[in-house]
Amino acid sequence: MGERLPQTIRPRKETEALTPEANSLRLGSGNCPHRTRMSPEVQQRVPVVAIDGPVGVGKSSVARRVAETLGFRHLDTGAMYRAVSVRLLEQDAEERKSGTAARIARNEAIELRQDGRVWIGARDVTEAIREEEVSQHVHLVADDAAVRQALVAQQRRIGLERPSVLEGRDIGTVVFPDAKWKVYLDASPDVRAQRRAAQHVANSRKVPLGQVLKNLTERDQRDRERKVGPLRVADDATVIDTTDMTEDRVIELICAIVRASDARPAP
Ligand code: DC
Repeated sequence: MGERLPQTIRPRKETEALTPEANSLRLGSGNCPHRTRMSPEVQQRVPVVAIDGPVGVGKSSVARRVAETLGFRHLDTGAMYRAVSVRLLEQDAEERKSGTAARIARNEAIELRQDGRVWIGARDVTEAIREEEVSQHVHLVADDAAVRQALVAQQRRIGLERPSVLEGRDIGTVVFPDAKWKVYLDASPDVRAQRRAAQHVANSRKVPLGQVLKNLTERDQRDRERKVGPLRVADDATVIDTTDMTEDRVIELICAIVRASDARPAP
């Protein structure tokens, strides 16, 4: 809120560099990188880069590297839903039906360390949150309004501590509707499935591409149809279609958006 960003954020000339991908960028009203001055309204917003988008678009890697480049904190909000899911799956069937997920979300501290490790309570669940069983069941946790209420409150608190990059589904719409920078990453389902399949290979998992595409389509639908905090583009987000872009280019564009509007305060 009017808080100044670190000195590492400096005026840059990247704004011109945005033009070659003009076709891949749809600019909302709030964060247009071609703006030369921030309106007082944008200046009032919180120093958060909100990155939303569907499964497999590459949010995590992009968000982590954008945060590193800008010297911001990185928060993978999906990891929080996954951590609660890990704990829920440890309960017996009867326990899973009650309000257990919300109790876990409210009572067990989730820690997203800057070295990438994820803890819940006294447990390191970094590997466990990526298990297939968790990916299959995490929507039960993400659909739970009471869980969302607890996790969104934590995300807001953490995001306000210092300039941050938050990635998820509802960051620009629910968690930080007043974020200074909002980006929605998109890519065709086929390309997202290929990226996800490549990740599986890197993790020594063999999943047929057709299966990856099917899972991804189902998860997209769930994310979009969720009653609370569904995946959607914030009105003032910049949409970047990454289908034909390298990750480096996506990172460059997001950093340019941040630097362009951060560099020139209104008089
Ligand atoms: O991005 P991911 O696959 O790690 O997310 C895990 C689950 O949490 C997935 O079902 C989407 C959901 N999610 C959400 O509902 N809101 C967020 N801000 C982040 C993730």
